[in-house]
Formats: sequence, structure tokens, C-alpha cells
Amino acid sequence: MLYNGDWDRTGLDYLALKNQWHVVARADEVDAERPKAVKLLGEELVLWRDGTGKIHAWKDYCGHRGARLSLGCVKDGEIECPYHGWRFDADGDCTRVPAHPDRALPSSAYLIFRHQAVERYDLIWASLAPPERPLPVFPEWDDGSFRKVFAGPYRYRGNALRSVENFLDASHFPFVHPNLNGNPDAPEPLADYEVFRDERGLHSSEISVYQPYGDHRGIPVNARYTYSVFNPTTAFFVKKTGETDRFCTFLNATPVDEAECLIWLIVAINFGADLTEERILYRQDKVFEQDRLIVESQRPARLPLDLR
Ligand code: FES
Ligand SMILES: [Fe+2]
Repeated sequence: MLYNGDWDRTGLDYLALKNQWHVVARADEVDAERPKAVKLLGEELVLWRDGTGKIHAWKDYCGHRGARLSLGCVKDGEIECPYHGWRFDADGDCTRVPAHPDRALPSSAYLIFRHQAVERYDLIWASLAPPERPLPVFPEWDDGSFRKVFAGPYRYRGNALRSVENFLDASHFPFVHPNLNGNPDAPEPLADYEVFRDERGLHSSEISVYQPYGDHRGIPVNARYTYSVFNPTTAFFVKKTGETDRFCTFLNATPVDEAECLIWLIVAINFGADLTEERILYRQDKVFEQDRLIVESQRPARLPLDLR
């Protein structure tokens, strides 16, 4: 087929993802004094905490003269604009205009634009529009037998949905992760598997693969994966080895914009108490760097819904 330059303009409109929760920061990145600037789906946001510690995600914008609130500070539980010192409370109401203390305070109708924000799993989540689905459920988080390690965020100059597609793809292991997740000289055929749906999302049945360096212990394993997709950009796997060993990965691919994403991982393992965090991160960083090179190379950059 003759290429007419059209394929990068077709496919999924990434703004379809605005009605869902996205990870925008680690919880400890926003303290009581300093706001933090982040970007989600092309929108610049400011994250800040009010006097009760509650997190807020607003457009990074003060409607007085358009300055960025993220350059300001938090005082007495209110956010102060860096330009003329106007202050806004947790409801977005203007509480102080230092140059005109005797005048009535302006309505905040066109001054402040608020989005939804919440904290869970030591992460800050935001949604640009009312979320259509609840926050993803990650049961191992509350299970003390699983050690949790944060990895990333990994920045891909690629589309977030492409990175989720990659995360769910077991047939790339021997080629992209040679001698770790597969043997490039003897790539295994994948057996058929089922996909089913429940209230949490989509789930696969078990997918079995041999892996020369299957987890952070650096040992060969016969791994049985089950994958889940909780949201278009939130996916999960449990990798079972032996009778009881479990290696889980909770992945959130945040679309910074259409062409760039940040991948936030929480690894949960119930083995290897003697493994150092460094060793765990070594393998995570290596695998996601190998994936990054491929995902960034994919065309069209936007994941088309119709793959023909
Ligand atoms: S621009 Fe924010 S107070 Fe003037
Ligand atoms: Fe991979």
C-alpha cells in the first residue's frame, strides 16, 4: 500500500483517557510547603497539600494574570500565587489579594480550575474529568507477606497504550529480553489462553514460559503468568514459580501527552527476603530499558484501534 502520511493521524484519541485515574507522582514528592508541577494528557497540573494534608490537583494556572501556581508556595494550608501573592483555599476560593485588602475578594470562577486527586498505594492519582471506573485494586499491597518495591518512573518517548500493549505481550520475551525472560535460540511457542472479565477488569488464564533469569534471584524458572488489565493504562501480572513463590508487578503508564509516557511500577514479591533493593531494581531497570527501545521505535506512535 502506498503510504500517504495518514497513519499518524488516525487511531485512538488519547483524550479518551481523561475520564480515568492516572498516577502523577509518588506521595512523598509533595510536602506541606511546596507545590509540584506535573503533566497529564497534555495538561499542566499543580499538586499541593492543604492544611489537613489532603492532596489537590489543579490546572497549573492562576487566572489573575496566568502565572503558574507551581512556582508559588503553600502557607497556612492555602496555595499562594508567585506573581501577586493571591491566595486560594482548598475549595479554590480566593482568600487574599495583598494589593487591595479593602476590596471585595474576586470570584474564583475563572481563576482556578480543579481536577480530582486522591492518594493510594503511596502514589498520587489524578483524573482530569470524573473517573468512569474506581481506583484499581491491588490486593498484594495490603498483604504483609509481600515485600513492595517501587521502580521507575521510566520515561518512554512513546504512547502509554503502546507500553501497556508491550507489558501484556509474552511473545517478545526471548527477543527483547534474551537470556533473562526467554531463550533467543529456542523461542517457545505460546499455548492458547483464555481472557475473561470481572468487576476489576480483564484477566488472562495462565501462560507458561521458561525463563533463564526469571526473577530477581537470577535463577532459571518455569514461570506461570496471569495478566490483568484494570484500566486502559493500568495492568498487572502475577508470575508464579514453584508452589508458592509469587512475583507481581502493578504497572501504571501515565500519558504525559500523546507521544510520551511515564511508567510507574510497584513490584510485590513473597520470596527473597535477602535480596537487596538494588538487586531488585537492577533487573527491573534492565528489562524496562530493553522494552523502551522497542516501544519508542513502534509506528504508528499512536496505538490504532484497528490494527490492519
Ligand atoms: S497572576 Fe496570580 S496573583 Fe497575579
Ligand atoms: Fe518486555
